[in-house]
Amino acid sequence: MINVNYDISKIIIRSMELDDLEEVLNIEKKSFSNPWTYNIFYYELIQNRYAKYFVLEKNKEIIGYLGLWLRGRSFHITNIAIKERWRNRGYGGILLRFIEKMATKHKVEKISLEVRRSNLIAQNMYRKCGYKLIKIRKNYYQAEKEDALVMEKKLN
Ligand SMILES: CC(C)(COP(=O)(O)OP(=O)(O)OC[C@H]1O[C@@H](n2cnc3c(N)ncnc32)[C@H](O)[C@@H]1OP(=O)(O)O)[C@@H](O)C(=O)NCCC(=O)NCCS
Repeated sequence: MINVNYDISKIIIRSMELDDLEEVLNIEKKSFSNPWTYNIFYYELIQNRYAKYFVLEKNKEIIGYLGLWLRGRSFHITNIAIKERWRNRGYGGILLRFIEKMATKHKVEKISLEVRRSNLIAQNMYRKCGYKLIKIRKNYYQAEKEDALVMEKKLN
């Protein structure tokens, strides 16, 4: 007898809205040592015209999100997180591929980000998706005096 599991759940990526913030903040708090607050997300969604945020929904549940800033002809990823119990199933990669497609459509030439030196899981994800280390910012995360790795992917 062959055992087959089909995952037929629906995945949607859409723009983040203020109404999403309760769910987003729950994920944020469980994902980061210095989580962003409601006010920061509010500023990003409503006032920062160079910012764009997306949520990933699975069967109408928000299971992840990603934010970016448009800087000239590049995207800078500000934030990416996947709800704990949905991690390591490819959803982070799906969000990165999604913004890459958007970048290509908008003639964006590169995507960059900062990641903590200790965050090996995220570094693995970025490397697997084609991001390369371009420089190190010493003590970028001041509270913990932790370095940031700046990673970048050039697009064709
Ligand atoms: C980083 C994060 C977004 C990754 O999302 P995810 O959906 O779990 O990642 P994916 O399943 O798409 O995995 C992509 C790659 O990341 C790496 N990865 C993911 N989970 C990993 C783990 N537990 N251990 C080691 N590498 C891992 C692997 O290289 C993986 O590729 P593979 O499955 O072919 O080995 C998620 O772990 C998260 O939300 N972490 C907390 C927030 C955070 O650190 N954000 C990044 C800030 S820079």
